[in-house]
Amino acid sequence: MLSPRLLQIAMMVERNKIVFDVGSDHALLPCFLVENRICPKVYAGEIAEGPYGKVKETVAKKQLEGLVVPVFSDGLAKAAEDVDIVVIAGMGYHTIRHILDQCDVSRYQYFLVQANNNVELLRRYLSEHFYTIEDEKVVYDGFYYQIIRFSADLHDPYTEKEIKYGPVLLQRRDEVFLAYLKDLKEKLIRINQEAHKEDYALTIKEIEEILYN
Ligand SMILES: C[S@@+](CC[C@H](N)C(=O)[O-])C[C@H]1O[C@@H](n2cnc3c(N)ncnc32)[C@H](O)[C@@H]1O
Repeated sequence: MLSPRLLQIAMMVERNKIVFDVGSDHALLPCFLVENRICPKVYAGEIAEGPYGKVKETVAKKQLEGLVVPVFSDGLAKAAEDVDIVVIAGMGYHTIRHILDQCDVSRYQYFLVQANNNVELLRRYLSEHFYTIEDEKVVYDGFYYQIIRFSADLHDPYTEKEIKYGPVLLQRRDEVFLAYLKDLKEKLIRINQEAHKEDYALTIKEIEEILYN
C-alpha cells in the first residue's frame, strides 16, 4: 500500500494519461498507477544506479514490463514524446528547480510537484515563470506535505500571500490545510518564546487572520 503522501499524488493523476515519475526510487508510484489501471503506462525515471536497479527489479518481480518503463535519466532529459503528466516528488526545492530549469515545461499537460522543503521558494519560482497553479493539496504523513499541480498556461504573478500559503489552498480552506496552519502557528510561537524574540510575530498574526477571518 502507498503512503498517504504518494496516495494523494496518485489521486491527482488524471486517468488514462501517460506519466513520467522523476526520481522514482522503488517505483512504488508507477506500479500503483498501472496496477490500479489509472494509467496505461508510466515511466520511472532515475539518475542514480542503486535506485535504478531497484526500479528494474520491482518491474521484473511484478511482471510489469512495458507498463512501468525504467528510464536512466537526469530529470526529463530522456523523456519520450508521449508523456502527458510529470511527477516530481520527495525531493528538495533545489533539485526540483534544477529539473524544471532543464526541461520544456510547455511540452506537458501538467506537473505534480512535492518539495520536501522551501515550498514558498517553489511557488515563487512558478510565479516568476508565469505558470498556473491549478490545484494544491496538503497531506499529513508524519509531516505536512504540500502537493502542487501546475501547468505552463500563462498566469499573472501571484501575490506574496499566495506565494507563502498557496493560492488554491487559501481559497479552498480544506481541513488539512487549516490543521497545517494551526500546527505552523504553534511552532512559530514556541520558537519566539524559546529565543525570547518576536521574529515571527507578523507571520503568526497573518496565520491567525487566515484561520479566523
Ligand atoms: C527521496 S527519493 C523520492 C522517491 C519518490 N519520488 C517519493 O516521492 O517517494 C528521491 C529520488 O530522486 C532521485 N533523483 C534525484 N535527483 C534526480 C534527478 N535530477 N533526476 C532523476 N532522479 C533524481 C534520487 O536518486 C532518489 O532516488
